[in-house]
Amino acid sequence: MESHTEDQAENGQDANGPSPKKPKSWPVPITDAEIRSEFSHHDLAVARINNGSFGSCPSYVSAAQMQWQLQFLRQPDHFYFNVLQPSLLRSRLLIKDLINADDVDEVSLVDNATTAAAIVLQQVSWAFFQGSFSKGDAVVMLHYAYGSVKKSIHAYVSRAGGHVIEVPLPFPVASDDEIISEFRKALALGKSNGRRVRLAVIDHITSMPSVVIPVKELTRICREEGVDQVFIDAAHAIGNIEIDVKDIGADFYTSNLHKWLFCPPAVAFLHTRKCAASADLHHPVVSDRYGRGLPLESGWIGTRDYSAQLVVPSAMEFVNRFDGGIVGIRKRNHEKVVEMGRMLAEAWGTCLGSPPEMCCSMIMVGMPGCLRVSSSEDALKLRAHLRDKFHVEVPIYYNPPKNFEGQIKDFSSMVTGYFRISHQVYNVLEDYHMLRDAINKLVQDGFTCRMLCS
Ligand SMILES: Cc1ncc(COP(=O)(O)O)c(C=O)c1O
Repeated sequence: MESHTEDQAENGQDANGPSPKKPKSWPVPITDAEIRSEFSHHDLAVARINNGSFGSCPSYVSAAQMQWQLQFLRQPDHFYFNVLQPSLLRSRLLIKDLINADDVDEVSLVDNATTAAAIVLQQVSWAFFQGSFSKGDAVVMLHYAYGSVKKSIHAYVSRAGGHVIEVPLPFPVASDDEIISEFRKALALGKSNGRRVRLAVIDHITSMPSVVIPVKELTRICREEGVDQVFIDAAHAIGNIEIDVKDIGADFYTSNLHKWLFCPPAVAFLHTRKCAASADLHHPVVSDRYGRGLPLESGWIGTRDYSAQLVVPSAMEFVNRFDGGIVGIRKRNHEKVVEMGRMLAEAWGTCLGSPPEMCCSMIMVGMPGCLRVSSSEDALKLRAHLRDKFHVEVPIYYNPPKNFEGQIKDFSSMVTGYFRISHQVYNVLEDYHMLRDAINKLVQDGFTCRMLCS
């Protein structure tokens, strides 16, 4: 693990990063006009109800990012020797406190959740190649795991000889128990024929459909059942739901800071528990820091722009302008997204995909069945239609009908499509009304997805 003393001696102590102009004291809470101004670079013609995919960055934080970039360009050698490492440490210390980690050495900054997954899965590959895991040992993941994480599991685990088991989750879903019961079944399958389950990859908030997964309970079950390692893919979590990595108790936990914590793309943290088998964790991009612990390896992966990782203090300053800071933001976003989800479901005569307590600042809202969303391709085409013709940006999930044989005759009563709506501080009621009215218009016009050409 990293030695701070050594690192500071090598890199100097100048951690006082640039900070954009700020008044002596900001009015707290931030006003609506100030929020509009912070996000005035958004395309104001678009109802942006999809914070989940790419997040958002206020101008206060992007100004800070530009100052970091200029500081590097002004005197790169000074920046490299004296500024970069202590400034990264500042960001990591803030994250450590936000997630209740024991030690800053457990927190590494990486580009994104995809990179964090590569770090975790690469050491699983080596365990297979070096014989500490045996061919056929299992890795369990959720059926709704994110696409690139699923592919990474294939690339790093299946190819190394691991057997992958998917946990089929119910959707719509009514309770944690439904998820826990499917998870237990998958673990039992993983352990059948004398196999070992070496790794469980569990989302904290699934991407599509979006559901908050009971990760603490699933991690506890993994421990009981002798699963070697637990990796929580919490790409959507920080700034969205409470994170307490000590309480959850997983070995590895990653979250993007550019989704819900107002950082620019791209930055994520990877938390690795001290007592986890983390000794063999390495960044896939190797530099001269190789072997000095993941936080230091990740802190220098060659010449590049590190500014997104350096603006965490500015992002926290922004967050603290809101009543209740990040806790207040989370609470209000959750309440608002539930209210908007209910309003839309009522307007269309549909329902929510999960009870409010299983959602965060995103919620799944059933779409009118008469739109006839019949495939994931339909969902993508309809999403593009809403963007192009109605200026609404919202992801759509296709939920294939369960236990259904043959052609669907009556679509009107069947919800096969769900919107994943988000709420972030910049959203206003009008955004959701634009979606509601666009769908009402399509329904009135007798539109179906079949009318959209490829
Ligand atoms: C659950 C989940 N995991 C991983 C990712 C990948 O995040 P990134 O593209 O920032 O690496 C996402 C992106 O939305 C996600 O939703």
